[in-house]
Amino acid sequence: MKDNVTHKNKKCEVWAVGSGKGGTGKSFITSSIGIHLASKGKKIVLVDADFGAANLHTFVGVGKPQNSLTDFFEKKTPLKDLVVNCGVSDLGLVAGSMRSFEAENIKSQQKVKFFKHINQIETDIILIDLGAGSHFNTMDTFLLADKMIVVVAPELTAIENLYQFIKSAFFRKLRLVLDAHGLKTTFQETWKDREARGIKSLKDLIEYLICVSPQVRDIISREMSDFNLHIVVNQMRNGQDVFIGSSVKSICMKFLGFNARYSGSVEYDESVTRCINRKQPFMVTYPSSPVARAIGKLSENLLEGKEIIIGKNGSAY
Ligand SMILES: Nc1ncnc2c1ncn2[C@@H]1O[C@H](COP(=O)(O)OP(=O)(O)O)[C@@H](O)[C@H]1O
Ligand SMILES: [Mg+2]
Repeated sequence: MKDNVTHKNKKCEVWAVGSGKGGTGKSFITSSIGIHLASKGKKIVLVDADFGAANLHTFVGVGKPQNSLTDFFEKKTPLKDLVVNCGVSDLGLVAGSMRSFEAENIKSQQKVKFFKHINQIETDIILIDLGAGSHFNTMDTFLLADKMIVVVAPELTAIENLYQFIKSAFFRKLRLVLDAHGLKTTFQETWKDREARGIKSLKDLIEYLICVSPQVRDIISREMSDFNLHIVVNQMRNGQDVFIGSSVKSICMKFLGFNARYSGSVEYDESVTRCINRKQPFMVTYPSSPVARAIGKLSENLLEGKEIIIGKNGSAY
């Protein structure tokens, strides 16, 4: 987790997986990355933080665990005591709540405690599967991760919602960081008077703020270079779909000024659904399939901070 929630004995890396829209494949991608990295000797814990539609356990082939995040929030059970084995060595799971326990109901203090507890789990990587959309509790968990991963499917609505999600995340990040530097008023007043100042977009807001003072300019440029966003295109159905990741990447640079990484692309395969319905982890059942190989490449890219390069003919390197 990042320094603004200071943890002295940093033990693990936190990766959070979000998206603008449900159904893009967050849970499938989260669980599959987890299974792949665990098979390569990393210690992984998956955390199901999709409070509305918690089903990550199904993707790793286990029944609904008795205890879930509800026990953490309602009964104060330490998070590390909620980690259950998944039948894959080195892969643990903190199950999500199956009750109608909404992200909206989580209070700020509980959130701080949740972040602290996440960091106390002894493992190499914690992978958090988030609910879709831009609720501020989802956003805050996303923003605190060392790696922020977004999953998009080749559908216009998924792409539109993703852009909205990224904008909201970046906007909230700027606000929080300026608040943390005692510049809350600068941000609030600029935003309040945006019409008078000719600010029509997030890009305009950033350009305006950069000119406020060298301090604000430095803070914003630092946030731009530290904004560690990774793009994953899932459920690709044809050769053209691979370009969606490149487009999202260029939009991030053009309109928000930060360099997102295009970490990987995964094709559509009917066996994914079949495996989920049979409660079989896809990566274990079809380890040599093109989808499993793509997940492998994606996971390695995420580990190493690398990205795929798309040739003119759509082939990915
Ligand atoms: N690469 C894929 N190929 C085929 N179907 C997929 C793939 N990824 C996901 N799916 C299907 O999409 C559904 C939604 O995926 P899921 O991971 O639950 O999305 P989310 O967590 O974003 O809501 C799954 O039930 C599965 O059937
Ligand atoms: Mg899900």
